[in-house]
Amino acid sequence: MIWPSYGRGILSALLPRELAESAPRPTAVFALIDRGALEVTREALERAEAALDCPLHRIDWQPTEQLKSLGEAERLARRMVGLGIDRSAMVVGVGGGITTDMAGFLAAVLLRGLRWGAVPTTLLGMADAALGGKTAVNLPEGKNLVGAFHQPCFVLADIDTLVTLPPREWRCGLGEILKAALIDGSELMPALERAAPEDLDFAGSTALELAAGAGRVKMRIAEADPTESAERKLLNLGHTFGHALETAAAGDPAIPQGLAHGEAVALGLRCAARMAEEMEVARAGLRRQVVELSGKLGLPSAYPGVLPDVAALTVLLGRDKKAHGGSLDLVLPAEPGSCLIVRGIAPAAVAEVIHQELG
Ligand SMILES: NC(=O)c1ccc[n+]([C@@H]2O[C@H](COP(=O)([O-])OP(=O)(O)OC[C@H]3O[C@@H](n4cnc5c(N)ncnc54)[C@H](O)[C@@H]3O)[C@@H](O)[C@H]2O)c1
Ligand SMILES: [Zn+2]
Repeated sequence: MIWPSYGRGILSALLPRELAESAPRPTAVFALIDRGALEVTREALERAEAALDCPLHRIDWQPTEQLKSLGEAERLARRMVGLGIDRSAMVVGVGGGITTDMAGFLAAVLLRGLRWGAVPTTLLGMADAALGGKTAVNLPEGKNLVGAFHQPCFVLADIDTLVTLPPREWRCGLGEILKAALIDGSELMPALERAAPEDLDFAGSTALELAAGAGRVKMRIAEADPTESAERKLLNLGHTFGHALETAAAGDPAIPQGLAHGEAVALGLRCAARMAEEMEVARAGLRRQVVELSGKLGLPSAYPGVLPDVAALTVLLGRDKKAHGGSLDLVLPAEPGSCLIVRGIAPAAVAEVIHQELG
């Protein structure tokens, strides 16, 4: 597995090199570019085009979860085939997680597999989504249900591309970084604990350390378990709770702003810590530590509307992709650096904990 490169101002130098010097030489490069990232990646793409002796096709699009679909994948694939494609072509995903998921998916299936690279331009993409080789599109029945494992040949994470990232997207990235810190505990957790609130934004001295630290946690786990059969499930910490809250908010017209994924994960981490304390698998004080850190990171402390009742949440939890035979396997934190998978938990018990924590 190729490890990502992190830095400030690295993209203009590294992207042309990765494309022009990759072996075998690409016969065409298809860059799927998130409109939100057009401005901050323009110079690097221009330099890459100048360095290449093959065409670089820029395909810009507006990423949404609705467009992360098989229909849109077909439209994009046909466009690429129409532009001229062969087995030596390369795909590059430039943007947030939706864009790198789509680009990776196209690369996985076009001509049964093309090389691809990722240029994440959201904090969440740098810390998580662009790493580890999981690619997918959504179905109306659920997120990420059609996909493939397909490793990128490079991941270039340039913190300077985050200069235009809206604060809410920034916070979403911090939600996943908090998750990584709880899973790993060794470097990232002390860095989060140490950082003053003003260090935690884009210009802050810790931005690079946090993104790269979370990336290391993900890569270590993904490398140990590339196809998610065991250890990689730890990366779902907070997600079972979070997905139920995200789905509930998305279906509630009184919450037009919804609950973004990273926000839902942050609330899910609080619920996971509470459940771990209640089941006496966590050391005392863990929940308080999570609540305090999450507050310092500016993550939400409450559900944004009226929380669905326990019965409704139980139904949502029972539909979780990871539910089987009517029960859930949950990742729970014992302490930073030590999480465990607890099997066979009833969705109703999980719903109760959500109510205790957020109701
Ligand atoms: N493959 C994986 O392992 C994995 C892991 C986690 C998440 N994901 C996926 O990632 C997606 C979420 O990714 P995301 O949070 O990056 O969201 P996103 O891709 O929707 O991007 C968020 C928003 O930021 C904009 N944007 C991107 N870069 C910008 C920049 N530099 N400046 C200003 N705006 C910018 C985008 O246009 C978009 O509107 C989900 O679809 C999720 O399923 C995948
Ligand atoms: Zn997530």
